Amino acid sequence: MRITVNVNGEDHTREVEARHLLVRFLRDDLELTGTHWGCDTSNCGTCVVLMDGEPVKSCTVLAAMAEGHETRTVEGLADGDRLDPVQQGFIEEHGLQCGFCTPGMMLSGRALLDRNPDPSEDEVREAISGQLCRCTGYLNIVKAIRWAAAHESAGREEAGSQA
Ligand code: FES
Ligand code: FES
Repeated sequence: MRITVNVNGEDHTREVEARHLLVRFLRDDLELTGTHWGCDTSNCGTCVVLMDGEPVKSCTVLAAMAEGHETRTVEGLADGDRLDPVQQGFIEEHGLQCGFCTPGMMLSGRALLDRNPDPSEDEVREAISGQLCRCTGYLNIVKAIRWAAAHESAGREEAGSQA
């Protein structure tokens, strides 16, 4: 079947089998390998991408189901050379070690901050609760997302005071 999927603001048309998974479409067809694949059981959450701004496990979504929606991967987080605050937060707070879970964690963080600009530690932990990290113990991931929240809100206040 022929499908057209919008990823990071661009339409991509490909012939795929009906059973083709979104994670395979992103990685194999579009070569967006920032979306990782860590299990066959929908448990690890390393394949998380955003669909219409909501985190989804792309190993549980058929590529054809992404038609008509906006998919965002980690490759679409930065704005040119400017990192998303969540990406910057992972740098500032050492939110990663091996990096395998990191793209999905960043995207869940982005989705959380888009609906809740000032999340509590518990709310951050809840937002990433479907994702596993084998390295960090989660503390620095939580700090990274909260760093992004604090800096985004400081940026908004600064922009407001200049308006
Ligand atoms: S690859 Fe593990 S939940 Fe999708
Ligand atoms: S940084 Fe290694 S799995 Fe999270």
